[in-house]
Amino acid sequence: MMPVATAIPQFDLTRQYQQLQAVFTPITQAVLAGGGYIGGTAVAQFEQAFAEYVGVPHCISCNSGTDALYLALRALGITAGDEVITPAFSFIATAEAISLTGATPVFVDVEPDTFNLNLDQVVQRLTAKTKAVLPVHLFGRPVDMTALHQLAQARGLAIIEDCAQATGSHWQGQPVGTWGTLGCFSFYPTKNLGAMGDGGAVTTHDPQLAQRLREIKNHGQRERYNSVTVGINSRLDALQAAWLTAKLDYLPQWLSQRRALADNYQKLLANIPGLTLPQDCPGHSWNQYTITLQSNHINRDDLRPKLQQAGIGTAVYYPVPLPLQPVYEFLQYDKATIPQSFALSQRVLSLPLFPELTPAEQQQVAGTVRRMLGG
Ligand SMILES: Cc1ncc(COP(=O)(O)O)c(C=O)c1O
Repeated sequence: MMPVATAIPQFDLTRQYQQLQAVFTPITQAVLAGGGYIGGTAVAQFEQAFAEYVGVPHCISCNSGTDALYLALRALGITAGDEVITPAFSFIATAEAISLTGATPVFVDVEPDTFNLNLDQVVQRLTAKTKAVLPVHLFGRPVDMTALHQLAQARGLAIIEDCAQATGSHWQGQPVGTWGTLGCFSFYPTKNLGAMGDGGAVTTHDPQLAQRLREIKNHGQRERYNSVTVGINSRLDALQAAWLTAKLDYLPQWLSQRRALADNYQKLLANIPGLTLPQDCPGHSWNQYTITLQSNHINRDDLRPKLQQAGIGTAVYYPVPLPLQPVYEFLQYDKATIPQSFALSQRVLSLPLFPELTPAEQQQVAGTVRRMLGG
């Protein structure tokens, strides 16, 4: 079959740019004319605005969500010989950041209804080497942070929240990124708050960790040309910072549009045999709307090209669980050790969901899915 250009893409970043073009032009010109392209007031303003948005005293911006995770782990002193517990079903950056410190990622399975890490398994995988738990608020669905927080406190463990997909999510009314020792955000363009390039940030209540993060992200320098540790260069550009500050004003509106679309999908796709809809909860920010196709009905890999032929873009997040990827073969996990993650990797499909998706487009997506599944 010839590939068909999708009439309804899984996401479309150009629509948001069109909406903001007039806002961005003077902001861009001001930064470019000011000559301060690295650091400076635009970055400081964004860090303050994002810290206020999340509800923490400290926000340390950096180059990406991957760097945010790496910096957080380094700031906690996590290193070779340590173990960090994290879910098997996530984007590679989550585990990669752990490995980059020299520590070992210890993978636990996820719950099929929340897509998030199974807390009983976290308890089972604790050892004397466990230094931290790194939960992922996958697809914007917040992890049960009350239970995880209690567990971590009882065992003296740090929590590093991977909030890459969850800017604006809450657990029991409290924003993600404020529950853990450190919160790590990505501003990759398709995230809830997306830059026009790469960007990331770490949030924390702890002033000492904040200072340590600032040192590590800036070549380990405490003062200029006086490095106290081995660091990296991880900066959010002034232009990205200025655009993100402007976009922050629109975030509440975009989050309500995401929620309205998700609510609508739940209605439009209800009661289709073989189809499991994502579980809603208060504080879900719906970065993705991910359906699960049951194995005894239509296969995900059959449905996806048919939707593509019908002009509907979809995505598979994620086709291979982290411990089953070649990079982690040496850890010797087997799909039987992470059965839910493996099953999800074969069955999940993320439908178009972005704030600017129109009701007519959504009707078309849902109607096509229903027709193809014989609902
Ligand atoms: C769960 C998760 N963690 C970390 C990252 C890394 O973020 P970035 O792409 O900004 O490095 C991503 C980005 O896709 C992600 O989805």
